[in-house]
Amino acid sequence: MKKVFIETYGCQMNQADSGIVGKILSTSNYSITMDENEADIILINTCAVRDNAEKRIHNRLHDLNALRKKKSYLKVGIIGCMAERLKDSLINEDRVDIVAGPDSYRKLPELIKKSEKNNASIDVNLSEDETYQDIIPMEINSNNITAFISIMRGCENFCSYCVVPYTRGKERSRDPKTIVEQAKNLFDKGYRDITLLGQNVNSYIYNKGEGEKEVNFARLMAMVAQINPLLRVRFATSHPKDISRELIDTIAKYDNICKYIHLPVQSGSNNMLKKMNRKYTIDEYKEKISWIRQAIPECSISTDIIAGFCSETIEDHKQTIEIMKWVGYDSAYMFKYSQRPGTLAAKKYEDDITEQEKTRRLEEIIDVQRELSLKSNQKDIGKTFEILIEGESKRDNTKLFGRNSQNKVIIVDKGNHKLGEYLNVKVNNCTSATLFGEEI
Ligand code: SAH
Ligand code: SF4
Ligand code: F3S
Repeated sequence: MKKVFIETYGCQMNQADSGIVGKILSTSNYSITMDENEADIILINTCAVRDNAEKRIHNRLHDLNALRKKKSYLKVGIIGCMAERLKDSLINEDRVDIVAGPDSYRKLPELIKKSEKNNASIDVNLSEDETYQDIIPMEINSNNITAFISIMRGCENFCSYCVVPYTRGKERSRDPKTIVEQAKNLFDKGYRDITLLGQNVNSYIYNKGEGEKEVNFARLMAMVAQINPLLRVRFATSHPKDISRELIDTIAKYDNICKYIHLPVQSGSNNMLKKMNRKYTIDEYKEKISWIRQAIPECSISTDIIAGFCSETIEDHKQTIEIMKWVGYDSAYMFKYSQRPGTLAAKKYEDDITEQEKTRRLEEIIDVQRELSLKSNQKDIGKTFEILIEGESKRDNTKLFGRNSQNKVIIVDKGNHKLGEYLNVKVNNCTSATLFGEEI
């Protein structure tokens, strides 16, 4: 049996997809190895969201080409979003053997076989209905406690800066029965924390217009939450334009739905939001935040922010800092704008903020967030939380770490505790990144 090593970059969806790829190959005469050195085939699951993500992969391919001079049998494949974006140029310019887009994973056994006859092989067709819903993914590099479940694929929001609608295609939702089954199955194996994934989970819809049979995202969350009170349920990502009262009420209603919402604002300026095609204003965004604060006072909120989008003025940038402070985000993912070929922004707007200025604005944003995260963590000192133990602390092997419902990492003494256990802890110290607690 030939051995396949799968390397994953990019978002949680890619991580979930690597599990699907692993399952497809392992039921088709290949075995999955965790050791790159013994691989006959290396598949790299890639991200195209920013230029630096792609640069990293080109460098990796350069190194692999050197390795192939020693191992002539080695085949290298690119799968995922960069495969979809760059298509056969990966074969011609990076000398890759296999290229498969996000909707072509069922064809991988065939594509690999073809490459073994020294023919480069490619399939980058996007589908309108592929959800891989019948495939129970292999859990690769798993801690056996937390898992991701893709509930839908694609995105049709076309935020002007974003490549995802082009690399992932049309939006489609999976049969809720298969989602609940997968979650049950994971729970039975000992998993205790599940994240339901979609680029915009609020538009999850199954059996649309069929009355009783229609399932929207709020209903789906309730179905998964009801599997067992010991199963924690999370989700990502919610688009501010259509997060609903119904969803917020559902999060409030079930103790095991985690009190954590990732609600990416991207910018604090209405001018920028309009150009970004985000379809909400800052006032509308604030209103949604107020709904959350009202219904779920203990909820933590995080965001994504882009610094230096096309023609962003100092005033626009200041407004981003204002909204960060107004919300008081518990955490944030912050990026410099990276122009992606083919997107609406690349066609319509000039990428006119210098690299140096983007860096300056990003650093300012990061500094503000560090302060906000610290403040948010300091507020937790003295409070008690239930955490799910997920692993050993990376810095100190006499300690364990777990997360609370709010998605904050808390470090505790090991004692006799095991991974996968729930533990009540009182927070007694913190940094801007971590809480430290003791068992009570
Ligand atoms: N579907 C999710 C986001 C997926 S991409 C959502 O809508 O929230 C994750 C984040 O990457 C985005 O929220 C955005 O902040 C960032 N991003 C996307 N395209 C980018 C680009 N061209 N340059 C910089 N950051 C980008
Ligand atoms: Fe990209 Fe917008 Fe879709 Fe998110 S919602 S994946 S940012 S197009
Ligand atoms: Fe995810 Fe990157 Fe694709 S963020 S959807 S892997 S472009």
